[in-house]
Amino acid sequence: MNIIAAKDYQDMSEKACEIVSETVKSKDKPVLGLATGSTPEGLYQCLIEKNKTNEVNFEHVTTFNLDEYVGLDADNPNSYRYFMNEKLFNHINVNQDNTHVPSGVASNLEEECATYEKLIKEHGAIDLQILGIGLNGHIGFNEPGTPFTSRTHIVELDESTRQANARFFDSMDEVPTQAITTGIETIMDSKKIVLLVSGENKADTVKRLMEGEVSEDFPASILKEHADVTIIADEAALSKVD
Ligand code: F6R
Repeated sequence: MNIIAAKDYQDMSEKACEIVSETVKSKDKPVLGLATGSTPEGLYQCLIEKNKTNEVNFEHVTTFNLDEYVGLDADNPNSYRYFMNEKLFNHINVNQDNTHVPSGVASNLEEECATYEKLIKEHGAIDLQILGIGLNGHIGFNEPGTPFTSRTHIVELDESTRQANARFFDSMDEVPTQAITTGIETIMDSKKIVLLVSGENKADTVKRLMEGEVSEDFPASILKEHADVTIIADEAALSKVD
């Protein structure tokens, strides 16, 4: 794992923005894997700026998001499709038809998982996958205990994950209990992975990632076995690493 130490959230976002921009510029048909959550918002803001100034062109870019809550449609402000439209897609020159987020309201969710997985395969592979990390080491919504061999599937969300995400909802009751997520193997199939981490509350998580063993109890640990992973972490997130 290649570690890039960033000063703070802004610096982390700008460093990630450089890497994404380079990938987009260097491929004819770039395929990006994207994440939601607080962590990549600064990255998306930076990409919007670069698109506005014509430095990065998203015309031929295809995107696949990691996950979506079951039961929330695109019009629901808490859905990940809504988040992506608001935070990135509506502000860049990407063809919206080429932006993919699993549907959490598909009539047959199992079929939706299989279709999503097939669609990624049809595009070859994800050139660059952006990841955040949960406090419990989850990547996408692959919670501890998820087999490393998993592909896109439906998950029961951990109580800790629901609590961590409750800040976006009016009450805890409204936080969905299930989600669709690409699997750990789906993520590991990406050619390049960039994991972003910011903030003191993730310091224990980062320490475990860097110093702990590879185990399904801590999903992100598998990233150590990928040939091209870069972690961009700010000082606060790195504060407990020896
Ligand atoms: C979101 C996702 C999650 C988040 C993780 C961290 O699409 O896949 O794994 O990356 O929960 O979330 P934040 O960035 O809000 O701390």
